[in-house]
Amino acid sequence: MAARGYSKIQVSDLAEFEAKAELKRLAAEIAENDRLYYQEDRPHITDAEYDALRQRYNAIEARFPDLRTLESLSLKVGAAPTGRFRKVRHAVPMLSLDNAMTEQDVIDFAARIRRFLKLGEDERITVSAEPKIDGLSMSLRYEDGELVTAATRGDGSEGEDVTANIRTLKDVPQKLGGRNLPKIAEVRGEVYMTKAAFLALNERQKAAGEQVFANPRNSAAGSLRQKDPSITASRPLGFFAYAWGEMSEMPADTQHGMIKWFEHCGFKTNPLTKLCHSVEELLAFHRHIEERRAGLDYDIDGVVYKVDRLDWQERLGFVSRSPRWAVAHKFPAERATTKVRGVLITVGRTGVLTPTAQLEPVGVGGVIVQNVTLHNEDYIKGIGNKGEVLREGRDIRIGDTVIVQRAGDVIPQIVDVVIDKRPKDAKPYQFPKKCPCPLHTDVVREETATGEEGARRRCTGEFACPYQKIEHLKQFASRRAFDIDGLGEKQIEYFFEQGWVKEPADIFTLSARNRTIKLEDIEGYGATSVRNLFNAIEARREIALDRFIFALGIRHVGETTALALARGYGSWDAFHEACLEVAKGDAEAVAEMDALDQIGDTVIQEVAAFFGEGHNRGIVERLTKEVRILDVEKPKKDTAVAGKTVVFTGSLEKMTRDEAKAMAERLGAKAAGSVSKKTDLVVAGPGAGSKLAEAKKLGITVLSEDEWLKLVE
Ligand code: IVH
Repeated sequence: MAARGYSKIQVSDLAEFEAKAELKRLAAEIAENDRLYYQEDRPHITDAEYDALRQRYNAIEARFPDLRTLESLSLKVGAAPTGRFRKVRHAVPMLSLDNAMTEQDVIDFAARIRRFLKLGEDERITVSAEPKIDGLSMSLRYEDGELVTAATRGDGSEGEDVTANIRTLKDVPQKLGGRNLPKIAEVRGEVYMTKAAFLALNERQKAAGEQVFANPRNSAAGSLRQKDPSITASRPLGFFAYAWGEMSEMPADTQHGMIKWFEHCGFKTNPLTKLCHSVEELLAFHRHIEERRAGLDYDIDGVVYKVDRLDWQERLGFVSRSPRWAVAHKFPAERATTKVRGVLITVGRTGVLTPTAQLEPVGVGGVIVQNVTLHNEDYIKGIGNKGEVLREGRDIRIGDTVIVQRAGDVIPQIVDVVIDKRPKDAKPYQFPKKCPCPLHTDVVREETATGEEGARRRCTGEFACPYQKIEHLKQFASRRAFDIDGLGEKQIEYFFEQGWVKEPADIFTLSARNRTIKLEDIEGYGATSVRNLFNAIEARREIALDRFIFALGIRHVGETTALALARGYGSWDAFHEACLEVAKGDAEAVAEMDALDQIGDTVIQEVAAFFGEGHNRGIVERLTKEVRILDVEKPKKDTAVAGKTVVFTGSLEKMTRDEAKAMAERLGAKAAGSVSKKTDLVVAGPGAGSKLAEAKKLGITVLSEDEWLKLVE
């Protein structure tokens, strides 16, 4: 079955009635594919096709928020959302492994076993050797073949119940395959994310302005700890089975027999697992896997050796919290030593200066590393990194010899400086006081939302800084903003350098100016591609308000905030007027913006800063002459207070002020900060003062908190 549930019409061109029909069609198709995927473990479409269905569904809903109902897929996917994770006591504790770091440790491990079991020198000890997956261990409890609980390791005795999330993993069968299943079977193994999926996820997180993960293990953990299983479902997690907990009957009497049984039940097991019969074979296995490590698509941090015979495992038992019958033979972290040649500073869209260390190229685990991010000024000084990556207190200087590792095998980072090798004349790195952009503006240390000094330095050139201008233009034309086909980052850089496109409005006047520019004469362009580009630009002369606001690139105004602002004001004119007032510091306009759901001080400050800048106002003015901005319908609400302006004053007892404002918003009312002729209702709690007096003076209805709650119930 191919993905067939959507028409070819661009979401931005859909009429509401078409959108409604399409959402219904898409929902049915997504539900069917969810069932095939989650419940039957046999998807009929590729992940990419499935993602495309969901993306289109979400895009349509985002454009027509009114069509969102309680049945919306965005609110309900797979299993019901979990609340806080329930604690689960493991029937059999989940223990850890002793480490072997050297070859001698492995020789000792084998000798210990031989001694403990009183085996003769010529008696063979068969050992199952497996990669040690760097993920999260998980215990899956099956009763009568049905998955009933999935629990994390926790402290080994008690873990967290993540069943709803684990059910979304395609490597975890809901029902065990095969016959004669034990009544109770706890299958244990490792949940992991592939390196490719980790990198892709981080790209998406970065684009959405959300948390990026340090390594695949963390991203797997973060993905599992979601309250909403649909988020876990959207993250590609894998599972390898390698151990067990409580078993009412044992289906095999060897480790490798158990692995076969797991496969039989429908689990994936690690294909590199191998039976070895001597210490030499174990060490050869270790070397072989280490060589393959960089080429594997998942992180491993060593290999695990397990005595194969289960009766021997039983006799060997445990020492404190680790089995005597197993050991983890770790790999040294993949590290290399190299020199810092220089520090390159780049300027992002919001003017933040990011330092990158330029290294003498060095191979780390099969990959050549020559650029490593240094994050910010404090990181280079060796402070503020909490010792998480770079050893605390170590500053990095040009000329320094540094130790580089790839976090979780993927992201290169400097972990230490070899102080002995520091050149005598190496000076502490001076973070530039001027932006490297041609304006050479002063750079300032950023203020955090709480007004403290942050670690990042920012160019103060804003829209006048050519580096920021280019980044702004890139965001403007990007997929999530104006989405202009054929106007990618390379083209923008080129057009900017040529002076043809210096600000957003220029994009829309390009075709009129092409008589002199003659794009078609430039190598790589032809008449057709130029026509296509101009058509793509023309097609975007109409744009939804939320996209337009996002495209402006106001700091802290991402897609979600842009949508909240668009819904709050409905039209460009209303939004624009409000922003200009906010920039002037008009208290009422500020209060009105503050009353919008999801909008707080940080956004208001940035909106004020953006529209307070004459240069930005000019850019916006020229741009709005070129495009038509489509209203976003304010959510229509059929409630007692829809369309009314409410002011909360005095202390509230049953809810916080923010909750009250959010509630008013949800019900279609506008919560304002001060009382005026436009106010319809005042909700006054104890201690209300001047606002209450003003309301009385203007003859405005005044309600108590309880009366308000009754009204909106
Ligand atoms: S066996 C009684 N096999 O390593 C111990 N563990 O340090 C049973 N791990 O918490 C564990 N790959 O998360 C075993 N092939 C493998 C493993 C493995 C990764 C992890 C597991 C465990 C930790 C122990």
